Amino acid sequence: MNELKVRLPQSSVSYEIKIEKGLLQKVGKEVAQLTKSRRVAVITDRNVDSYYGARVEQQLADEGFEVSMIVLQPGEQTKTFSMMPLIFSQLIEAGLTRSDVIVALGGGVIGDIAGFAASSYLRGIDLVQIPTSLLAQVDSSVGGKVGVDLPEGKNLVGAFYHPTQVIIDPEVLNTLTDHYFADGMAEVIKYGCIWDAAFFDSLSKLESRDAVMTEIEWIIARCCDIKREVVEQDEKDKGMRMLLNFGHTLGHAIEAYYHYENITHGHAVAIGMATLTEISEARQLTEAGTADQIRHVLKMHQLPSELEDPKAYNDILSFVSKDKKQLNNQLHVVLLNSIGSAATHQTDVSFFESLRTGGQDH
Ligand code: GLY
Repeated sequence: MNELKVRLPQSSVSYEIKIEKGLLQKVGKEVAQLTKSRRVAVITDRNVDSYYGARVEQQLADEGFEVSMIVLQPGEQTKTFSMMPLIFSQLIEAGLTRSDVIVALGGGVIGDIAGFAASSYLRGIDLVQIPTSLLAQVDSSVGGKVGVDLPEGKNLVGAFYHPTQVIIDPEVLNTLTDHYFADGMAEVIKYGCIWDAAFFDSLSKLESRDAVMTEIEWIIARCCDIKREVVEQDEKDKGMRMLLNFGHTLGHAIEAYYHYENITHGHAVAIGMATLTEISEARQLTEAGTADQIRHVLKMHQLPSELEDPKAYNDILSFVSKDKKQLNNQLHVVLLNSIGSAATHQTDVSFFESLRTGGQDH
């Protein structure tokens, strides 16, 4: 088993991340070690519930837990502020008190909404994250960002609220479609780009999903360890943590332009990483050849490096200027010096101007 410990001096909390194939079979014992309580609410979605809900419920029941399953609709539309009263009602109905536990069993959406529920229900109760998508295993389940969307935009309400443990079983990735496996690989590749050239190199040698799966425990552990290192130094996302947004400024704008429907997060980030690096290479801010290396590894992992319809950039750029990560009205993009080394760069939307084409009719 790979075990990592995240220590956050600013919040005086620490928690473990455990990574092992088959760990879901031991989930009852793991949760039992974390709490004296024997009442738990598992928040999940219908898809994950159909694969893993009964197994997790049984494991917890075997350890003497009274388990309530709260099963939500799958998809980003579930992650809204308007869902919160329904979740709180179900937690009250389940009789959850301040000493009990919420288990988030699912991908990024479930981790975010269940985490937000845990942060605010009775002013905060224990949270165990059991991420089931690759994206959630390497990114969103670690670092304490939880939250929901408002009609005005994504992730506009939330908290930094850390779990008491993250339990990662890479075997659950076997039920992901190739599309969503690739989606998670975009974030995996991102860690290589911003932090670890040797890791990036290893990823460029794993030529298939099966090859990745043979190394998966180590791959997830490396990503979580990089995130740990970053978050320990900048828990509240005021400095170094922004490096984790490499490719995300453009990626978020692409997702918003397509109404979060026709493109998924990892695919948009993949295009963002490659496109941004082409621009920064042309401006001699990034070592020549870096964009090519990124495009190569993205292709190997079934990810795009460019938008199918480049004319869309004429409209996508207006979403870049709305990026909520702007500080004091300045846009901070993350650029690579070379593979494995990144820095933030203060600019404005004109940085992306070369993406505009003349072919727009309005
Ligand atoms: N997903 C980026 C972060 O946690 O800061």
